[in-house]
Amino acid sequence: MPNAGITGWGRCLPPAALTNADIATFLDTTDDWITSRTGIRERRISHVLLQDMAEVAAKRALACAGLTGRDIDLIVFGSTTHDDQCPNMASGLQARIGAEGCAAMDVNTACTSFLYGLSTATAMIRSGVVRSALVIGGERIAPYMDWNDRNVAVLFGDGAAAVVLQATERDEGVQLEKLGCYGDAREILRIRGIGGAYVHQGRLLGATEWQFEGQEIFKKAVNGMGSACEDVLRRAGIGPDDIDLVIPHQANLRIIEFVAKRAGVPMERVFVNVQRYGNMSAATVPVALCEALEQGLVKPGAKLLMPAFGGGLTFCAHLVRFGERVTPIATSDAELPPATHSALEMVLAWRAAKGAALA
Ligand code: UT7
Repeated sequence: MPNAGITGWGRCLPPAALTNADIATFLDTTDDWITSRTGIRERRISHVLLQDMAEVAAKRALACAGLTGRDIDLIVFGSTTHDDQCPNMASGLQARIGAEGCAAMDVNTACTSFLYGLSTATAMIRSGVVRSALVIGGERIAPYMDWNDRNVAVLFGDGAAAVVLQATERDEGVQLEKLGCYGDAREILRIRGIGGAYVHQGRLLGATEWQFEGQEIFKKAVNGMGSACEDVLRRAGIGPDDIDLVIPHQANLRIIEFVAKRAGVPMERVFVNVQRYGNMSAATVPVALCEALEQGLVKPGAKLLMPAFGGGLTFCAHLVRFGERVTPIATSDAELPPATHSALEMVLAWRAAKGAALA
């Protein structure tokens, strides 16, 4: 049975940054509150569709692997904030990267969507259904955000990243994972206003309102990710000292610190970039993986532990062995068009449009 090695990686962050001070100009919050409770200092706001960010990330990942779209058998697109519900995101990406005819599917498990997608694609490679896959984690949360709610508006940001998986006989890729879901607690993280449930409720589709119990989510996140890490380490027969780098979901610095403590891994071996991007949901882990590679923190053959949690409430942890090559074969010149408005201008426009729609 082949393994599914990670042979390419690429990320795409929109250029416009929304700082805590920017948010404090229209919501009752402070830089001090946001930084001390979450570690977040700024987040990106996308001026383009999610599909556009995913295309750039995917082209960079393909170049990194030395492949073209024609070499890809399967696209798995992990996201919760689709440009369209139908057709799906993966089918839109297919032509943009020249992968016509390949299998194309979306996975929506909220913030864990990339890692659930990684499991799906790995299983298809192991079982021989496909030989190669492109797995994406991407979100454009800004249109889904309730920009009047300080409980959530300070937490999230936009971004995308992709990895290429290829069948290999070498001992690489996902070695073990634990996937789970606290479905009985799903009500504590809900975006009201998107989906068929709201059609007959007199609510304007897209006029979102977040149901969000931060403290309960916090506890479940620590518990879900912590127990998933313990499960994976136990089944692998290894201890925290065997983990070279933890690349966790980036929702809140305090959550990351609790999970690292529970897994027994010191923070020096935990990758953190939440301060720059906030919670990009499905994009956090693949963006963090790309940045860890770019910074030379992933050594050949490194053992990585990747825990995540999200709406559902889904949780997971993946033990991944990286291959010998930790540098790109080639680079892509794919770029987003420049942003013509600042992040604050874009957010104020979203806010005004929603206010007008609700008036
Ligand atoms: O990927 C899944 C996404 N979900 C998460 O990651 C969320 C996990 N939860 C968290 O990260 C934290 O619970 C939060 C960052 C959301 C909140 O931190 P907390 O330490 O749990 O704060 P809290 O909810 O207990 O709120 C403390 C106070 C409240 O005021 P009172 O009731 O004590 O007067 C809130 O109203 O802080 C207030 N507050 C704010 N104040 C200033 C809530 N949001 C803000 C804000 N600025 N943005």
